Amino acid sequence: MKIAIVGPGKLGSTLGRLWVGKGHDVTVTFSRDPAKLVTIASEIGARSAPVKEAVSGAEVVVLTTKWAAVADALAQAGSFSGKVVLDCTNTMSPRKTADGKPELRSCAEVLAEMAPGAKVVKTFNQAFQQILAADSRLFDGQKPTMFHCGDDAAAKLVAAQLIEETDFEAVDAGPLENARLIEAYAVLVIRLGHTLGLGTDVAMKLMRR
Ligand SMILES: NC(=O)c1ccc[n+]([C@@H]2O[C@H](COP(=O)([O-])OP(=O)(O)OC[C@H]3O[C@@H](n4cnc5c(N)ncnc54)[C@H](OP(=O)(O)O)[C@@H]3O)[C@@H](O)[C@H]2O)c1
Repeated sequence: MKIAIVGPGKLGSTLGRLWVGKGHDVTVTFSRDPAKLVTIASEIGARSAPVKEAVSGAEVVVLTTKWAAVADALAQAGSFSGKVVLDCTNTMSPRKTADGKPELRSCAEVLAEMAPGAKVVKTFNQAFQQILAADSRLFDGQKPTMFHCGDDAAAKLVAAQLIEETDFEAVDAGPLENARLIEAYAVLVIRLGHTLGLGTDVAMKLMRR
């Protein structure tokens, strides 16, 4: 697949490296320091390009920048119509609507409105990048869970493949509206790791029987 990683920082560059290892054609884009993109690209075996070029050439766009920078990234990108967009962002800050009211929708739903025609899937926001960057994702031989949700069935299949290729178990968590739950769940994971002392070498698992 042709994948554009928008914001190849800690999470994005780690995902990019894993997908390059699976044979995908990865392009990194969107930095305040374009020279950094060239370095990151060569470190992970990807290419670098300006945002518009990277997005227009991609089948899958992976948004791994800070939520506060998303509007800027979108403004540089041009059309997302028809693209699968994996929204990996989280924000801990309360958000407001254009008319100043509390924003109750998830970042992913707001993103879908900001990027008309994009097939937005929320995922990869709920696990520490340290797990993705580790030698293995497995805990006692078991894959941790990565939920994904969205309104386009084909886009969710693409997301599930990319999740499985990182050695997480992909679990379909329903429509994009459920990103509200996945984003809240991510905050719990972050608090467990960073505030409540569990550290970042932890991941969640859906048990079945
Ligand atoms: N780290 C994790 O464990 C983790 C896990 C799940 C989800 N997430 C989410 O993934 C997103 C990225 O997290 P991260 O930890 O990878 O952050 P990060 O290392 O700071 O990466 C942010 C990326 O966005 C780029 N960027 C471009 N313009 C920017 C701007 N105006 N402000 C900030 N960054 C800008 C940065 O490039 P330059 O610095 O070169 O400008 C960098 O490549 C966040 O939304 C985070 O909540 C992170």
